[in-house]
Amino acid sequence: MPIRSVVRPTYLVLCSAIFLLPVGCKTSQPTTSQSRVQTGQGVYQYKEEDPTLKPFYSDRQGVTGRNGMVASAHPEASQVGLNILKAGGNAVDAAVAMQFALAVVYPGAGNIGGGGFMVYRDKSGKASTLDYREKAPGKATPNMYLDSAGNVRAGGLSMSGHLASGVPGSVAGMVQAHQKFGKLTWPQVLQPAVDLAEKGFALTERDATGLNRIKDDLLKYNPGKTYFMHPEGRAWAKGDLLVQTDLGSTLRRIQTQGRDGFYGGETARLVAAEMQRGGGLISEADLANYQAIWREPIREGYKNFNVITMPPTSSGGIALVQLLRYIEPFPIRRWGWNRDSTAQVMIEAERRVYADRAKFLGDPDFVKVPSAQLMDRTYLQNQWATFNFSKATDSKTIHGGSLPGYESLETTHFSVVDRDGNAVSITTTLNGGYGSRVVVGGAGFFMNNEMDDFSIKPGTPNMYGLIGNQANAIAPNKRMLSSMTPTILERDGKLFMVVGTPGGSTIMTSVFQTVVNVIEHGMTMQQSVNALKFHHQWLPDKTIFENGAFTEATKQALIGRGYVLEQLTNTLGRMDCVLVRPDGSYEGASDPRADNTAMGF
Ligand code: DON
Repeated sequence: MPIRSVVRPTYLVLCSAIFLLPVGCKTSQPTTSQSRVQTGQGVYQYKEEDPTLKPFYSDRQGVTGRNGMVASAHPEASQVGLNILKAGGNAVDAAVAMQFALAVVYPGAGNIGGGGFMVYRDKSGKASTLDYREKAPGKATPNMYLDSAGNVRAGGLSMSGHLASGVPGSVAGMVQAHQKFGKLTWPQVLQPAVDLAEKGFALTERDATGLNRIKDDLLKYNPGKTYFMHPEGRAWAKGDLLVQTDLGSTLRRIQTQGRDGFYGGETARLVAAEMQRGGGLISEADLANYQAIWREPIREGYKNFNVITMPPTSSGGIALVQLLRYIEPFPIRRWGWNRDSTAQVMIEAERRVYADRAKFLGDPDFVKVPSAQLMDRTYLQNQWATFNFSKATDSKTIHGGSLPGYESLETTHFSVVDRDGNAVSITTTLNGGYGSRVVVGGAGFFMNNEMDDFSIKPGTPNMYGLIGNQANAIAPNKRMLSSMTPTILERDGKLFMVVGTPGGSTIMTSVFQTVVNVIEHGMTMQQSVNALKFHHQWLPDKTIFENGAFTEATKQALIGRGYVLEQLTNTLGRMDCVLVRPDGSYEGASDPRADNTAMGF
């Protein structure tokens, strides 16, 4: 089917606003209260052509500020970041304080027992990235999760329990980030987290539900311990105070001794003892040897934007650039938001990107990742040659895994911009919600289950249904491949957007859509976060979508071309983003799908 036949004639009228107006277009009056939002970038207008379609998860509005903006998964952590900025701290000070605060108030994903990535762009435009991803312990082996016949051993050992953990990187990352860019003192940026742990904080409804949900695993992996249990033995409820004394002491050791407060001394001894107790591999030597790594950012152009993003060990940065470049030749702005042709080219881009990920990506300190070639436009054109508007491309018939139950899976992203325009984009994780579910005895924090992000057996899907090969095989001291995509965009060389999300394998596609919604469809930052999303990852060969992301007509058009669609009962993405408007003010946008909160001043 030629392109024209799927494009409705109305799309051809510039500024005719089926779903959108191009950036810069003037518009007439809104048709509904939801339909017109002043973006500062343009105006996005949704005409209710299909009254069954509710394309936004909520009508939450963005937060405005001129002097600083933070957005994170938890109101307490955002408050910490805002206070640090108001106290004269810069974006890195606020981000470090928020990482530690999240370790206290958001134990499902905020962490000191996990790892993450930071993308930083200073006010002059200089950018750097910090890889504080976990590493396989020194005693890890390629077959550690396989039996003698080469089959994956029962029990989900890469996902729960002591053997699932990589060597944590978060504390090293924060120390190195602060040493290089921080302005306030180290004890100052640690203090809010210490206070939250020792004095406690009131649980949100969601915090309480999360802890109640993992009670059985807490008992299973931490026998005889009462971590994260209500002191009276009852279920947690909204408003209960969670006090974490052991975690407070661990944070104080980090506060007074810096890196050695975690990777040496008492904390390291406690981690190693915990590992020994449960048959884990991490040793005191593994901890002492851990270093975060400064890496050259990916900095690639898309139209008049620059995408500054995470290189490997994340697959996210390369993926995001590939995705944008695949859609670059298509008039998706004219076609309209999530209309059939728009969705089709985005899905086909996603299919190709995830196939590359599985084949080529891994820890660049261990395997040669052909980054430049993968983002090369000629390469992408060749990969696109099999695209056909009339029919879905076939993903290879490898057995894909089932997609995750997203609600139980957590990572967390936060974004910070300070008064001067220094910007930080951090995604950090334990991998699954509450990681391995092992709490380090005496130290009070969850360990990650990041080993599952390795390809534990070639072709066997991980918990996100992602398939990998040799490039992401386990090796001692190697970092496992990630999908986390903390990203900063420039527009015409100036700071424009800070963006990122959790979501396992869906991270890149959620970031992709959030960027495209703003720069192609003219949404505000918050509208783009609110907008419903979809996802394809090559294998399994299906497109999952949030209820309302597609009209009935779009669904039928896609199904008619051979696409398998699956409507989710849960959601995609938990974005925390900041946009710089043309007048220099900031729009903070936090995801209405959870407790995410933006604060600015
Ligand atoms: O690094 C990764 O790609 C995964 N460990 C991220 C996990 C995640 O986002 C879970 N949250 N929904």
